[in-house]
Amino acid sequence: MFEESTEVVFNKRVAKNTFFMGFRSITMADTSRPGQFVMMQVRQGMDPLLRRPFSILGVNGDVLLLLYRVVGRGTAILSERKPGDYLSVLGPLGRGFETPGEAVQPVLVAGGMGIAPLIFLSLNLARKDQQFLAGYGISSEVVPFDQLGIVGLSPAIATEDGSEGHHGRVTGLLEAVLSVKEKPSVIFTCGPLPMLKAVAKIALGQNIPCQVSLESNMACGVGACQGCAVKNAIGSNKPYAHVCQDGPVFDAKTLDWEVI
Ligand SMILES: Cc1cc2nc3c(=O)[nH]c(=O)nc-3n(C[C@H](O)[C@H](O)[C@H](O)COP(=O)(O)OP(=O)(O)OC[C@H]3O[C@@H](n4cnc5c(N)ncnc54)[C@H](O)[C@@H]3O)c2cc1C
Ligand code: FES
Repeated sequence: MFEESTEVVFNKRVAKNTFFMGFRSITMADTSRPGQFVMMQVRQGMDPLLRRPFSILGVNGDVLLLLYRVVGRGTAILSERKPGDYLSVLGPLGRGFETPGEAVQPVLVAGGMGIAPLIFLSLNLARKDQQFLAGYGISSEVVPFDQLGIVGLSPAIATEDGSEGHHGRVTGLLEAVLSVKEKPSVIFTCGPLPMLKAVAKIALGQNIPCQVSLESNMACGVGACQGCAVKNAIGSNKPYAHVCQDGPVFDAKTLDWEVI
């Protein structure tokens, strides 16, 4: 883990309320793994005091890539940062995805900004047999991969209002994929909590291994504030896990989905 003052290389809007940012850090670019995240100061100074957590979307040379949606004050301030600005970043943090063996087919299921860590994973896996499914609310939220400089990846899209791709939730696409699978699958998922619960239910119900990347409110990102605790499944050797250190990626069967 490093703490660095990093230079913003670009920060551009790519979809509705959605920004693609690159910042320069040789050390973080060299050590980041899919599923890990950074804690980023959104501007210089003490306001806002707390850094915000963002998944790493990928690495391009010495530039780390992030994709974020403006949801509140911190991300609104971040969206105003310009190339040449310097921001303090802590990372890479947390436990990322475990790479599956060749005998299982990776199925990646993203909801909204949950697509960021799954793009990194998908590029890293570089498997011809992987299935990549991405769900959004409406078509204006769909992130065009060409705007991210990504070629050769084209997830199957679902939109809840039917304005692009499959009409409905991404879990509908997942069930369709699982019903015709040719070999055992392993699911990787990241997105809003209700979607993660639905994906975990499908995976656990069909005995399919599932790695889930969780989000939670994070004040420190390094295990010091206890603010990101989630309940472990009954029978675990400790009652709670910390998303920032034990995760953000968890084996779905280790969590208590009734109380998360
Ligand atoms: C490990 C991790 C990785 C993340 N990766 C990404 C990413 O790649 N892209 C991205 O856009 N966002 C990501 N997030 C969420 C992001 O950190 C929050 O959206 C951001 O901190 C909100 O800051 P804000 O000041 O703009 O909003 P606030 O003013 O703090 O909150 C505004 C609204 O957003 C909600 N909110 C705040 N934090 C979260 C959260 N963690 N999850 C869901 N809702 C939240 C609040 O409840 C509130 O309704 C990640 C979070 C975690 C924990
Ligand atoms: S965010 Fe502080 S302990 Fe996890």
